[in-house]
Amino acid sequence: MLSTSASVTIDPARCSGCGACIRVCPSDILSLENGTARAAPDTHTARCLQCGHCMAACPEGAVTILDLDPDLQDFSTFTMDPVWLPPGKGLSTQGLARLICSRRSCRHYSQAPVERERMADLIKLAVFAPSGTNSQAWTFTCLTSRSEVLALGLSIKAFFERLNKRAENFLLRKSLALVGNKTLDHYFTNYYPSVKTAMEQMEKENRDRLFHGAPALILIGSSPGATCPKEDALLAAGNILLTAHTMGLGTCLIGYAVAAMDEDRSIQKELGIPESETIHAAVALGYPDETYQRITGRKNPTIRFC
Ligand SMILES: Cc1cc2nc3c(=O)[nH]c(=O)nc-3n(C[C@H](O)[C@H](O)[C@H](O)COP(=O)(O)O)c2cc1C
Repeated sequence: MLSTSASVTIDPARCSGCGACIRVCPSDILSLENGTARAAPDTHTARCLQCGHCMAACPEGAVTILDLDPDLQDFSTFTMDPVWLPPGKGLSTQGLARLICSRRSCRHYSQAPVERERMADLIKLAVFAPSGTNSQAWTFTCLTSRSEVLALGLSIKAFFERLNKRAENFLLRKSLALVGNKTLDHYFTNYYPSVKTAMEQMEKENRDRLFHGAPALILIGSSPGATCPKEDALLAAGNILLTAHTMGLGTCLIGYAVAAMDEDRSIQKELGIPESETIHAAVALGYPDETYQRITGRKNPTIRFC
């Protein structure tokens, strides 16, 4: 009989009882019974994460996991060798290091549209990022035309105009600070001057200081249930940034858009994003209209070996 927890199915006809799945299960829900692996039903204390470790480890292909979509490995803009890559094998660290060091935030884009298939493939790779308790509760909202990106930019600009007006009010800033709310005062000192300049440039010079003229945008959000929604979104974004570079695309994270959408939830409503979702990352995307001559350094980080 097939052994089935809420999510794991083990075919006893294939299972050799080697225990590989049991060793890698992070939730300890697998055990050997009469020489065959069995999955315990989900309980309050032991619940399958649907991480897929057991399925990945089984030499016999005896394990399947509900809800894992194998089509996510079918990419339309490139082919991938679907064979698992063991640590230290196959790919060179040199190649990956060069990619990591060559990616730069792009702030000049050509107006060539980004193909939907490319965006879909980026998202398929984004969701291979780790997520807290494997909740994978991320959402991806794609703006695929410059006009959509511009319209969102206008809503965000309107938000910052309102915020700047409030920040210019000395009495409001100081009275809020007096009752312990220093956010507006902090904004005024640290962000207000550059936001004001950027908005003037947007108006007078018709320069897109928010999305840098990007013809596409991916908003990464979370639906309810995620345990670490911000971290998940930024890890997914990391996959997108690096993969986009290999595809010839430029990217830039736009924190200002995230801050505005967090404060003014009506902005996401305009895009049809449900109220229950929260946006944690905005990735401007497009074919770059800028080139670089070299890889530069970074500031020295604090490193401790204890
Ligand atoms: C969370 C986050 C938010 C960011 N927000 C913006 C932004 O609103 N506008 C922008 O032009 N760049 C933004 N950036 C890009 C950073 O300025 C950039 O990563 C940094 O200058 C290092 O440059 P590099 O990405 O080219 O290595 C953001 C980066 C991060 C990680």
